[in-house]
Amino acid sequence: MNYLPIFLKVTDRPCLVVGGGKVAARKVALLLRAGARVTVVAPHCSGELRELASGEQVICRERNFEAGDIDGMVLAIAATDDEAVNRAVSELAKQRGIPVNVVDNPGLCSFIMPSIIDRSPVQVAVSTGGASPVLARLLRARLESFIPSAYGRLARLVDEYRQHVKRRFPDAGHRRYFWESILQGRVAELLFAGQEEKARTALQAAIDDTGENFDSGGEVYLVGAGPGDPDLITFRALRLMQQADVVVYDRLVSQPILDMVRRDADMIYAGKARDKHTLSQESINELLVRLAREGKRVLRLKGGDPFIFGRGGEEIETLAQEGIPFQVVPGITAASGCASYAGIPLTHRDYAQSCIFVTGHLKDGSVNLDWERLAKPAQTIVFYMGMYSIPVISEQLIAHGLPPATPVALVQQGTTPQQRVYIETLASLRDLDKRHTIKPPTIIIVGQVVNLHDKLDWFRSEPPGN
Ligand SMILES: C[S@@+](CC[C@H](N)C(=O)[O-])C[C@H]1O[C@@H](n2cnc3c(N)ncnc32)[C@H](O)[C@@H]1O
Repeated sequence: MNYLPIFLKVTDRPCLVVGGGKVAARKVALLLRAGARVTVVAPHCSGELRELASGEQVICRERNFEAGDIDGMVLAIAATDDEAVNRAVSELAKQRGIPVNVVDNPGLCSFIMPSIIDRSPVQVAVSTGGASPVLARLLRARLESFIPSAYGRLARLVDEYRQHVKRRFPDAGHRRYFWESILQGRVAELLFAGQEEKARTALQAAIDDTGENFDSGGEVYLVGAGPGDPDLITFRALRLMQQADVVVYDRLVSQPILDMVRRDADMIYAGKARDKHTLSQESINELLVRLAREGKRVLRLKGGDPFIFGRGGEEIETLAQEGIPFQVVPGITAASGCASYAGIPLTHRDYAQSCIFVTGHLKDGSVNLDWERLAKPAQTIVFYMGMYSIPVISEQLIAHGLPPATPVALVQQGTTPQQRVYIETLASLRDLDKRHTIKPPTIIIVGQVVNLHDKLDWFRSEPPGN
């Protein structure tokens, strides 16, 4: 190791920052987060620094740096663009045994500043030993994405119960096993889902347990997988995908997303192709209950958002009735995913002040919509499951007053490398089937915003000519 990683306690301790610009302000802000008392010395302090100095923890001395400034400090940072001043701060600090950092000059530093992932009290510091701060920042971004933001709260909860658990499980091995099961199980998940009281109750119950059967209750995660592009799933969805014991997934969940699920999880296909439901909705509801009762962590993975034409509501109603714990993770719905990837803003100050999502496929197979409400000017209509209702959509919207020239976009397999966008009008939809074979899944967007596609289309999934 070129450097010894340590975490320094500076709460209420005097720290010196030499420099009055943006970088100095960033360092002062960081020191303040750690509770330090900061003295800033610079001939001119920026407005940002002066603002920080309006609190009690920061003093700005607007003058040149003097050797005496460093006396009594526990840490010094030089952030000026004057090489001689930076060097002087470094030498004086080193002579006095005070840790010193000179921004962008590792040769003058006795310590370097890492990139920080802050989930206080959990902190992760990343350093490349000064070799590449950019690489450290990139690494940090990756870590940020998979360390849940509630880790701090989790650590505080553990801290609260630590002594209690120590008394309950005097054996260190047993205690470690206990904490591992808590930190990777239901208590942690409840906390991440914002259910702190339930997490506390579950932790207490686990402590009161015989010690052999912690955390055995199953639960269901109803998770939206987005419209297809795996980069569009949420951090939480990814985490739950990687810890589930069993996955019940729909046809609409793309293969690249399924590839991100924990390798040894059991995969159950629930189907749901139009009119070819592999499992009926009732069987899916019952399956989720049964798997959770077996003590499994069940990931119910659905395309798009589970609460938008996803029947997610019905599934969790059954879970709630049966007393099975669950949580719902939203996903990007097809309308917003496909519209973004097709360069079609769903609302626009000049063209659409409202946007309405409807289904083109109803329970009994007929399209029975409030056409009058849909056929309004300055409104975007998005039809889910409308592929087989295209002639009705065209006919009814025109009959209810929309101009036949109203632009329409059909986005097929949106957000995936196979995405195709067909631009039509309400009138031209009539003979669409003679010109194109539209494949599922396809979403239909109707309204003046579709005209922006030509200008804003940015996602070229297939090479031109394909
Ligand atoms: C049963 S609904 C499910 C909607 C999903 N819950 C959501 O929020 O996107 C299925 C319909 O969503 C639309 N859809 C879903 N994914 C799509 C995609 N990648 N491209 C185009 N349309 C899509 C299609 O209209 C399809 O018929």
